Amino acid sequence: MSSAAVASPQFVWTDAYALGYPQMDDTHHEFVETVNAMLVASDDEFPQALDAFADHAERHFKQEADWMNGTNFPAADCHIDEHDAVMKSVRDVQALVKSDNPKRFEIGRSLAQELVRWFPGHADYLDSALSQWLSKKAHGGAPIVIRRNVAGSATTG
Ligand SMILES: [Fe+2]
Ligand SMILES: [Fe+2]
Repeated sequence: MSSAAVASPQFVWTDAYALGYPQMDDTHHEFVETVNAMLVASDDEFPQALDAFADHAERHFKQEADWMNGTNFPAADCHIDEHDAVMKSVRDVQALVKSDNPKRFEIGRSLAQELVRWFPGHADYLDSALSQWLSKKAHGGAPIVIRRNVAGSATTG
């Protein structure tokens, strides 16, 4: 197909988000990508980007809930409550974006911005506790997180 202009990303994965449980890290990569897709979408593209994010969020939150329920994770309730609150906002904004409200895209994009602000804290406090719990169950120890040192590692020959 013909080439299209590619907007520069606004929400970018950093290894600081890595929690050391590979399946969770893969899902979090996808979270960053689907939120970024909303941030760079045109008005025409926005509804589809929002629906793609909603699909992602449903799978993401169900995966974590299944892990919590399947391993008797002790602090599941407040974690699941946070996911539910996010999902409710996503459903509300999906309905609004399908309406003829003149502010629908503005409100849609502010949801995406809100998700950018929400993610690091959620990952740090709630997902990281779950990651440690799962790693402990799997290997009898806390996860080993390897973060690449991106700066200053270039070599020339
Ligand atoms: Fe997560
Ligand atoms: Fe979570």
